[in-house]
Amino acid sequence: MSAPLELPPVVSAAFEVSLRHGYASFCRNETGRLLAALAATRSGTLAEFGTGTGVGTAWLRSGIRPGARILSAELDPTLADAATKLFETDDQVEVVAADWSTLSGRSPFSLLFLDAREPEHSGADTVIDLMEEGGIVVIDDLVPCESWPPLYAGRVDSVREAWLTDDRFTAVEVMVASDTAVLLATKR
Ligand SMILES: C[S@@+](CC[C@H](N)C(=O)[O-])C[C@H]1O[C@@H](n2cnc3c(N)ncnc32)[C@H](O)[C@@H]1O
Repeated sequence: MSAPLELPPVVSAAFEVSLRHGYASFCRNETGRLLAALAATRSGTLAEFGTGTGVGTAWLRSGIRPGARILSAELDPTLADAATKLFETDDQVEVVAADWSTLSGRSPFSLLFLDAREPEHSGADTVIDLMEEGGIVVIDDLVPCESWPPLYAGRVDSVREAWLTDDRFTAVEVMVASDTAVLLATKR
């Protein structure tokens, strides 16, 4: 482990909420630290599609600059309620209990943590119009792959291949741990 073990207090609070709800689908700390570092470069609206109980949101919050805002959508009302309560006194974070597709009117986004884990909606076409120029899309939880085209479970990972070759974005796969990679795609 190369990163410090200590967690930002807001992330620790989010883990407690996750524990209370028996929810374990949150991003790893390595991804979280990357989210925080990216958030620190952003202004305007940072979005998250798929809040869970707010761990990813909390990592973004730990890095966000004054004046920027985080808007996060969670489809499951129980999880959304838990995350809303976590950030209820924080005027830089808004959690909505809704399908992320209802947030299009709140775009453009300077960063999007695309984490609803819906394979059919994780391609560039789904989000291109929601991003500002220079906005960064972050996709979590890829299995690192050194081959080209990228393979997953013995087959071509066509979603990853499409992101990495889409000339509307400049994209890169970044290993954040030996067993996990994140895709970063910046809108040109
Ligand atoms: C991987 S978890 C999110 C984890 C969270 N981003 C974190 O890092 O802590 C995916 C979440 O997306 C939510 N989800 C799935 N489809 C969605 C949709 N269309 N709109 C909003 N949330 C959705 C699921 O209910 C689930 O809680």
